Amino acid sequence: MRLMNIDEKIGQLNQLSSGVATGPEGEKYDLVKEIKGGHVGSLLNIYGADSTYKYQKIAMENTRLKIPMIFGYDVIHGARTSFPIPLGEAASWDLQAMELSARITAIESAALGLHWTFAPMVDICRDPRWGRIMEGAGEDPYLGAQIAKARVKGLQGKDLAQNNTILACAKHFAGYGAVEAGREYNTTTISIRHLRETILPPFKAAVEAGAATVMNAFNDVDGIPASASKFLVTDVLKKEWGFKGFTISDWNSIGEMVSWGTSRDAAEAAQQAMNAGSDMDMCAFAYRNHLKQLVKEGKVLQSQIDESVGRILKMKFALGLFEDPFRYSNAAREKELLFSKPHLEAAREVAKKSIVLLKNEKQLLPLSKKVKSILVVGEVANSKWDMSSTWAGMVETKDNVTILEGIKAKVDKGTKVYYTQGADPKDDKILSLDTAIMLTKKCEVIIMTMGERAWWVGENNSFANIEIRKNELALMNALLKTGKPLIVLLTNGRPIIMSEVAEKAPAILETWWLGSMAGHAIADVLFGDYNPSGKLPVTFPRTAGQIPLYYAQKNTGRPAMTTSDGKYDGGIYRDVVNTPLYPFGYGLSYTTFSYEEIKVLSDSTNIGTPINVTVKVRNTGKIAGEEVVQLYIRDMVTSATQPIKVLKGFKKVMLGPNESKVISFTLTLEDLSIWDKDMVFRQEPGEFKVMAGGNSDKLIMTSFYVK
Ligand code: NOJ
Repeated sequence: MRLMNIDEKIGQLNQLSSGVATGPEGEKYDLVKEIKGGHVGSLLNIYGADSTYKYQKIAMENTRLKIPMIFGYDVIHGARTSFPIPLGEAASWDLQAMELSARITAIESAALGLHWTFAPMVDICRDPRWGRIMEGAGEDPYLGAQIAKARVKGLQGKDLAQNNTILACAKHFAGYGAVEAGREYNTTTISIRHLRETILPPFKAAVEAGAATVMNAFNDVDGIPASASKFLVTDVLKKEWGFKGFTISDWNSIGEMVSWGTSRDAAEAAQQAMNAGSDMDMCAFAYRNHLKQLVKEGKVLQSQIDESVGRILKMKFALGLFEDPFRYSNAAREKELLFSKPHLEAAREVAKKSIVLLKNEKQLLPLSKKVKSILVVGEVANSKWDMSSTWAGMVETKDNVTILEGIKAKVDKGTKVYYTQGADPKDDKILSLDTAIMLTKKCEVIIMTMGERAWWVGENNSFANIEIRKNELALMNALLKTGKPLIVLLTNGRPIIMSEVAEKAPAILETWWLGSMAGHAIADVLFGDYNPSGKLPVTFPRTAGQIPLYYAQKNTGRPAMTTSDGKYDGGIYRDVVNTPLYPFGYGLSYTTFSYEEIKVLSDSTNIGTPINVTVKVRNTGKIAGEEVVQLYIRDMVTSATQPIKVLKGFKKVMLGPNESKVISFTLTLEDLSIWDKDMVFRQEPGEFKVMAGGNSDKLIMTSFYVK
């Protein structure tokens, strides 16, 4: 730092795109000239051992202090080996699996010359209209926090200096998942309480797990664009949580403060963002072009710039780049590691675990591999591209295993597999109704994909209508009329409105977008080589009018109640019941589980004492299976209103037929604390209910008292 002049320092705060644009505009600058001039601390949208080497060389050979650049890319769910979309993976509730998927993502990214990924997205989202819900871990802060930790650990490993670990980036700080009406880039209305209770916990967990970087959100929070929020960036993140890494703006989010109308021009935006503590500017040129002048004018302190530069340089040291700026750009490693057999095996495992069985009437599933003939219907069933979905920039989609391919590879030699595209959700038409009906005559069972096309989710893909498309429903109804058993495979990146499907289709599997090995993983579940164990990380509403619908509802002063005639009353819609189609935490198995004997080891205790809770779970079916045992609590009387249940623990357990296990949980002071009426995080005395079960709606309960 002592060696650096002001221009060199400001250069470190500037991140530019190397050209594979993910942003609104292409390059309007000479990138090589910028690098040679020492104006670039980091590049995004670059990958590959060769290109990263080439650009690093420019910086090494042409800048005075030879400070290496760091290369970042949106590696969101796998680099060359594609893993399930993050929301799908969250449905596995398997933290080890998610850590492994992040680990492999880091290994492959690092082999591609990258030092940094802009993941995990830890935004809590309760509005499925928002297309980016696919990138997160769903609706719940506790589950979100555990997953955030697992993903950060997986990406960063134990030592950032290894050439197979990369910097993680917890994003988008904060509140992007709460954009009003689920509309992309919209404003938010977030109370401090909601921020503290629901939005911030996964960020805090990521920081505690050592996340090296945090990205500002595009949105405003309480009227302040997040990139200029001193409250968020300095007071909460850096001071309260002791975050030691650096922050990066989102793409041009500093420049966009002019559009928000909180800055007159880019110079003022730079001043506001820097004074809020935002360290690196992604692609706005605001720091690059204005910081020097702002320092001259006394509007930004030199010490503020030093603070940000220091944070960035520390990470470059941690990555080992000052010892060897090229250590990640190694073509041999790239060749050896990308899309390797062990990585593909892991991708298949994680994909299987992410599938959720939503319905299975008369145990239609699993199918026998000896079934004589199958009809596979649906445009998506035969699409390689869809399987890895969006945010899969480095995936070679030609290598993805389609659903049709997976089924064909699984069944016995004698089994005939027919295919027709049926309906494509993107059109209003049914593409091949007659063919489909004709083919049903030859088939014992129908497997139909329904839902979304993969490009409907991800950034800038908000939808007001998230209902299953009419043409797909019409096709399903026509196929059901043939009397042949029909299995629906949902392919989607968000909860979709599908009440009619839920009512009529005898079997439904939620398969999200599962990545490179999607087809094999789906076939593993369809044909019983894997017993499904996924649970929804987000509520599925019955109708879009219920949004936002999530399990952690508050009791309110007039809670919805069931009246003597079986109807709901109080706080209800007149046209639809309050309950969801599928609750948070829901998912079936090919076996069944029962819950007995929930016990609190001491039923009266003092503030701060950890509470041990046990529950007995039994596999009541005929085959082995995994169950996600979920633990919820309710703090009965509190100084500020609390939800009627909040998740505070979960364990995934394997049980053989008729086997039972006693699962134990410890509720810590933190688990039992709330943000009280004065916004102090503390435990309040009184009664707590504690509940356990296989989903948020079906729970057994006991209680304890805290003095
Ligand atoms: C905008 C997105 O909001 C962010 O998540 C992403 O990392 C950047 N673009 C970079 O591509």
